[in-house]
Formats: sequence, C-alpha cells, structure tokens
Amino acid sequence: MSETTIEGIDYGPLACLVGIWKGDSGMDVAPEPDADEHNPYYETITFEAAGDVTNAEEQTLSVVRYHQVVSRKSNDKVFHDQIGYWLWDPATDTVVQTLTIPRAVTLLAGGSASRDGDERVLEVAASAGDSDWTIAQAPFLQSKASTTGYKHRMSVAGDSLRYSQTTVLEIYGKHAYQHTDENSLSRQ
Ligand code: HEM
Repeated sequence: MSETTIEGIDYGPLACLVGIWKGDSGMDVAPEPDADEHNPYYETITFEAAGDVTNAEEQTLSVVRYHQVVSRKSNDKVFHDQIGYWLWDPATDTVVQTLTIPRAVTLLAGGSASRDGDERVLEVAASAGDSDWTIAQAPFLQSKASTTGYKHRMSVAGDSLRYSQTTVLEIYGKHAYQHTDENSLSRQ
C-alpha cells in the first residue's frame, strides 16, 4: 500500500486532494460590457475519494469527485458553483478534469501531474474544437458568451492548495477575453 492508496484504491497524484478546503483570498476577473469586474471571493472545495471505474475492460481510472462553492466577499452571495471529477489513468499517467457549471457549459480537460519541490502539481487544459480535450455549451452561449479555452493549474503541499485558472471567452465583442480565477486554500 502506498501513501496514495485510500481504501485499497491508488489515487496517485489525486490522493493529496481528498478533504474539505477553504480559502478566502480568491480573486476573480470577469467580463463586463465596458470593463473588467474584479471580485474578491472566498470558497469551499470538497474533494471525495470516489473509487475507480473500468472502461472497455482495459482502462481503469481512479476518481475524485468535487464540489466548489464560491461566494463574493462584497455581499456573501454564492456567485459560482461547480461540480466535477478529477480522474487519473495510471497506465498513461494522464490526469483529467471534467467539470460543469450552471451556465450550460461543461468541459473535459486533460493533462498531467508533476512535482515541484514539495508540491504536487496538476495541470490540465481544454479548447473548443479540440478532438480530445474540449468544451460543450448551449446555443445561447455559443453565440453570445462562448468559452473557447480553459487552463487550470493546481498545486498541493501538505494542507495548502493553490490554483489559478484562465477561461477564455468571446463576449461583448471582446476576442479571447481572459476570465481568471485564483485562490489559496487550507485543508480543514
Ligand atoms: C472560481 C471560478 C469562477 C468564478 C468565481 C466565476 C465568476 C464569474 C463572474 C462574476 C462572471 C461575470 C458575470 C456574472 O456576474 O455572473 C462570470 C462570467 C462567465 N463565466 Fe465565470 N467564473 C468562474 C469560473 C468559470 C469557468 C470554469 C467557466 C467555464 C467553464 C466560466 C464561464 C463563464 C462564462 C461563459 C461567463 C460569461 C457570462 C456572463 O458574463 O454573462 N466561469 N464568471
């Protein structure tokens, strides 16, 4: 049994995520018609070890399920809610994030895990139109607020987690608008 094994399943680079994390130094940069919106935020992300699955009797993926709830500091209202999975394929050492948000957009991002000193780093990306790691969204978004790219980097060292992500949007006539989010969290 390695230190990444939980109840008999090896979660590899995802094992370090399991737990309830809170952070209150988040910063969101989001689009407005005339300018950027800067939103300081706090959040809770819950990651749960969710077992493994086998695809076509040959690929086994370990599964970490998560729920992210983000609140605006200015009014304590939840303004972003995201659910998804992190998956690890030990055969290819591929890391996958699947996520959905309640704007009628969902995405499948792929990448890898690495180490940077004491940190475990997970990096994934997706882009609309890519044949492997891609983005799906409802017709209104396609025409008015299309998500064309996504990059996410998360690093964990002990009970500290940091992430930064860029979601690329076509909105309000802006091309490749960089909608960014970053935060540092502690395991509770
Ligand atoms: C911590 C993560 C995130 C936060 C806090 C956040 C927050 C926001 C905010 C404040 C806006 C401006 C519109 C509004 O006030 O509702 C916005 C717009 C948008 N976000 Fe995010 N977002 C996050 C992640 C994402 C992700 C991962 C995606 C896509 C996969 C996404 C897709 C969009 C889209 C398509 C819009 C344009 C809709 C509009 O502005 O009317 N966001 N987001």
